[in-house]
Amino acid sequence: MEEEGGQALEEKAALGFQRGFLAGKRLAELPWESLEEVLKYSEDSSPFLAILQKTVHHPLCLKYPPSVQYRRRFLSELIKKHESTSTEPLDQLYEALGVVLNCEETTHCYKNYLLPSGDAITLRENVAIVSQGTTGLVTWDAGLYLAEWALENSEVFRNRRILELGSGIGLTGIAVCKTCHPRWYVFSDHHKAVLQQLSENIHLNSLTLEPESCSHRTEGSPNHQGRLDVNLEGDHVRISVKELDWNLVSKDKLAKLQADVILAADVVYDPEVSQHLIGVLQKFPRDGGNRQKPEVYIAFNIRNPDTYHDFQMQLDKVEIGWETVATSWKNLFPYDQHANIVILRLHI
Ligand SMILES: C[S@@+](CC[C@H](N)C(=O)[O-])C[C@H]1O[C@@H](n2cnc3c(N)ncnc32)[C@H](O)[C@@H]1O
Repeated sequence: MEEEGGQALEEKAALGFQRGFLAGKRLAELPWESLEEVLKYSEDSSPFLAILQKTVHHPLCLKYPPSVQYRRRFLSELIKKHESTSTEPLDQLYEALGVVLNCEETTHCYKNYLLPSGDAITLRENVAIVSQGTTGLVTWDAGLYLAEWALENSEVFRNRRILELGSGIGLTGIAVCKTCHPRWYVFSDHHKAVLQQLSENIHLNSLTLEPESCSHRTEGSPNHQGRLDVNLEGDHVRISVKELDWNLVSKDKLAKLQADVILAADVVYDPEVSQHLIGVLQKFPRDGGNRQKPEVYIAFNIRNPDTYHDFQMQLDKVEIGWETVATSWKNLFPYDQHANIVILRLHI
């Protein structure tokens, strides 16, 4: 292989590790195969040094590190791979592992999601997937998939008022605010600790919250608080966080939000929660009035096909039409399972 081509391959593999590692992707989903490919042609340890530089030594990792356990497992795996080559042991790998082994485990960690622009969304997340009685303190694959879909379909959001239900700690909404030019983005959830972490994450990403509820603002009125936010292209985005429980919120309150688009990710994980979600969707004005009915997009991780079919049956029962607008299939080695995420557009 030509030296130049080999370097390009090495760089590409390292960038793949960078993207996955900073976002705390499952180790099995990191691009080990492309590393194997690079190693076929490499005669020294440079591919490993490149990966180390773009992951554990990356400035984002130094400032906002993934969990101690994740870094430890990642480095152990990288060392194992390196030891399977015939090159000399690489001190830098062992030194990096030594540093991580001396770190104390924490209940929180950071994940850094790189946008195509190169900008990163940094979120403070819980290490445990369920904590304080909620699943909302970590980012779920469906939220990530909905964010990716939004980046490719930004016209859905441009200059519109978006309401997100069950926002969790904010990945989807922050991605939309930064890149899709919405006019107003209302994040919502019902869990106090989730709302707190969500607000912190919004600030962490240099976005500013409206000081108070947006629900009484009339169309086109000036922003008297003068607190405008700017997305990556310099547009102004107004951002609110609201405590909104689907079972308690009134029709009136929802109507006042005047949402053009409603989003939700990974909020249909058991039949009871499905019912609650459908319940809240039924509270939105259905006649449309002078306004167009909101467009609704739900990202659904099909862990159990029965839950998915049950949700579809419940929608049919209350005459909410639906169509699939995107699907992602993933093979989650080592579980040998297919995780299927779909985005449904609902016609409420
Ligand atoms: C699995 S998490 C998904 C979080 C985020 N959307 C994501 O994809 O990463 C489900 C979220 O729905 C919220 N939720 C569940 N039931 C709710 C309800 N009745 N009212 C409001 N939010 C609710 C939870 O608090 C949690 O943040």
